[in-house]
Amino acid sequence: MKKVLWLFLLPLVLFGADLNPQMQKYMEELAKQAKQENPDFKGFDYKRGEKIFTSTHIGKRGKPISCVSCHTSDLTKEGKNINTGKVLPPLSPQANPKSITKVKKVKKWLKRNFKDVYNRVGTAQEKGDAIVYIVNKK
Ligand code: HEC
Repeated sequence: MKKVLWLFLLPLVLFGADLNPQMQKYMEELAKQAKQENPDFKGFDYKRGEKIFTSTHIGKRGKPISCVSCHTSDLTKEGKNINTGKVLPPLSPQANPKSITKVKKVKKWLKRNFKDVYNRVGTAQEKGDAIVYIVNKK
């Protein structure tokens, strides 16, 4: 049992090497939840995260929008909130060491931003995939 759990968490540990302990714990919670929602879940995936982040959908306001619309496709650069015009700090922790460090903030914005783009909340798997993409994107 322990071995199975370790094999299951290993990709996560590798992917989340740059995350602080608080964020690692959140990723483990998301992985547990993802496994409950989908027994075939094998770990979070950069490629799926990329698709979640870059694909366009009819959002909350009935217009086409993607995560890129506000955060741009270069996550090391500042973004711009298309609704308010406000400048956003870079999402990539490589350019902005404060990004993806506070679980409370990450949860709040993932909830809000999935609604903006997908007009629904994200699943545990989608949230984990998106974080893996954000943290590892060069
Ligand atoms: C309408 C504009 C908008 C869109 C679209 C958007 N975001 Fe955001 N996002 C924001 C704003 C504003 C913040 C808060 C920035 C700040 O104050 O640091 C934010 C913050 C975040 C954070 C927290 C970063 C941190 O500091 O830890 C994450 C994660 C995030 N967004 C992911 C996403 C994902 C994934 C999508 C697509 C599903 C997305 N965003 C789409 C505006 C947007």
